[in-house]
Amino acid sequence: MESKILKIGHRGAKGHLTENTLESIKKALSLKVDGIEIDVHRCASGQLVVFHDFTVDRITNGTGEVAKHTLKSLKSLKTKGTYQIPSLAEVLALVDNKSLLNIELKGQDTAKEAARIITFYVDKKGWEYENILVSSFQEGLLETIHKINDKIPLAVLTDRNLGRAVEFAKTINAVGIHADYTMLTEEIVTELKEEFKVFAFTVNNLNPLARIKSYGVDGIISDYPDRI
Ligand code: G3P
Ligand code: CA
Repeated sequence: MESKILKIGHRGAKGHLTENTLESIKKALSLKVDGIEIDVHRCASGQLVVFHDFTVDRITNGTGEVAKHTLKSLKSLKTKGTYQIPSLAEVLALVDNKSLLNIELKGQDTAKEAARIITFYVDKKGWEYENILVSSFQEGLLETIHKINDKIPLAVLTDRNLGRAVEFAKTINAVGIHADYTMLTEEIVTELKEEFKVFAFTVNNLNPLARIKSYGVDGIISDYPDRI
């Protein structure tokens, strides 16, 4: 029997509502996703905030680096669609262990605080480690998480070098390889699946969706998770 392919909403449900907002995440949940992917940065007051870019310029009415704004300052901004930038704590409270949460460490210096808050939500708020997946393109951030709490499931992101991703993934006991879908063939997926869960990102159009599904990946990350 074919195993189920997890439907993961990219930045919430980016194709439907402004990315990485609580509203976009609620939309993804309403589309019955198996998981939600979000990006995090550390802001000037120390909290992790859910945001993709390194600056706020593209999708808010503010300017400047996310890392140089305090949480209060980021909260005063409006995103496209007039939503707020959420903190990671708000997202953990909203999702509340009801689906997989794939937290991509995007910004510098995000690992320690991510490990702390995830451990807290597991120990005190009913989250289970199996519903958390921390991914990053940055090896150092994943290494730090692994050193602080090796129970946190990790995935290595790659958009250029699968061999390198695999070798590094072994050193941190990563459970997954998350690959740009354009790098994948059926043979590559079959080989990767001998050791890892394989997620493909970011697959939005119907033809590539059908092709990637036929390879038997474990999960697909899409702006339109309802198309998977
Ligand atoms: O996690 C997969 C994907 O989100 C990585 O690329 O640029 O959309 O964060 P990006
Ligand atoms: Ca991402």
